[in-house]
Amino acid sequence: MNYRHGFHAGNFADVLKHSVLALIVRHLLQKAAPFRYIDTHAGIGLYDLHSEQAQKTGEWRDGVARVWNTRFEPEVAALLAPWQDAVNRLNPEGGLRYYPGSPELVRALARPDDRLVLCELHPQDAALLGRRYARDKRMRVVEIDGWTGLNAYVPPKERRGLVLVDPPFEEPDELLRMVSALDAAHRKWPTGTYALWYPVKDPGEIAAFTHRLANLDVPSILGAEIMIQRPEDASRLNGTGLVIVNPPWTLERDLRILLPALARVLGRDGRSTSRVFQIAGERRA
Ligand SMILES: C[S@@+](CC[C@H](N)C(=O)[O-])C[C@H]1O[C@@H](n2cnc3c(N)ncnc32)[C@H](O)[C@@H]1O
Repeated sequence: MNYRHGFHAGNFADVLKHSVLALIVRHLLQKAAPFRYIDTHAGIGLYDLHSEQAQKTGEWRDGVARVWNTRFEPEVAALLAPWQDAVNRLNPEGGLRYYPGSPELVRALARPDDRLVLCELHPQDAALLGRRYARDKRMRVVEIDGWTGLNAYVPPKERRGLVLVDPPFEEPDELLRMVSALDAAHRKWPTGTYALWYPVKDPGEIAAFTHRLANLDVPSILGAEIMIQRPEDASRLNGTGLVIVNPPWTLERDLRILLPALARVLGRDGRSTSRVFQIAGERRA
């Protein structure tokens, strides 16, 4: 386990992941009944962009910092707001220094009766996360393998909620593992919403991944992807995407507005693209 998210926090992939995550949570908040959030690979929750790790790569400068410095049209700004408000609240002085990881973002949006389960296998990260949220009764931090946690914690008693699957992709078969983990979890909890993050290096690999997903017995799957450059070098992180199972019904429409704007701002070579695509089910927006 060499991966440390501190080197990558706030990069373009986090921007997509977290802005979409916040939109899904905003939808969950529209009903009074509490929801459960399960983060299978939680990280440390909060990142200092001035830390040695973040400064070393500077990835956040081409991610959250670009968004921070952009004035979007009102329609796009409204869709970014649930995520950006959480970033702003961590930076009351006005500059951009602290960045919320997925646990902190969902915590910022959650209500007193909502519950969050955070799985993190790295002992130091799990300990840090545990200390960070020790006083918040809504948060449960578990030092456990996220794939085991996913199987153990679904279905939650609330019967409504969201699972984020955000592994470090250190293992070559992580995409295959995602497909089988989703298959098993969906059988146990077919009505839950699942968001699966993926990196795009070689687009052919992603086509095979989405094809496998389409062949599962999972009826409603949406894909959302941005490419920040043409994938000419398959050893580089050329793009990023999210697979969303049981998306809120307004999400597809929202992403068709949000993603082109993000791709424009996050693009590297003037040839960035985005797509919102049905992996399974019918187009709703
Ligand atoms: C991409 S980061 C998570 C970022 C976080 N979800 C966010 O959006 O802020 C992946 C995390 O998974 C942890 N990890 C690696 N292997 C794991 C496993 N098998 N189970 C749970 N966590 C794992 C790493 O230590 C790392 O903190």
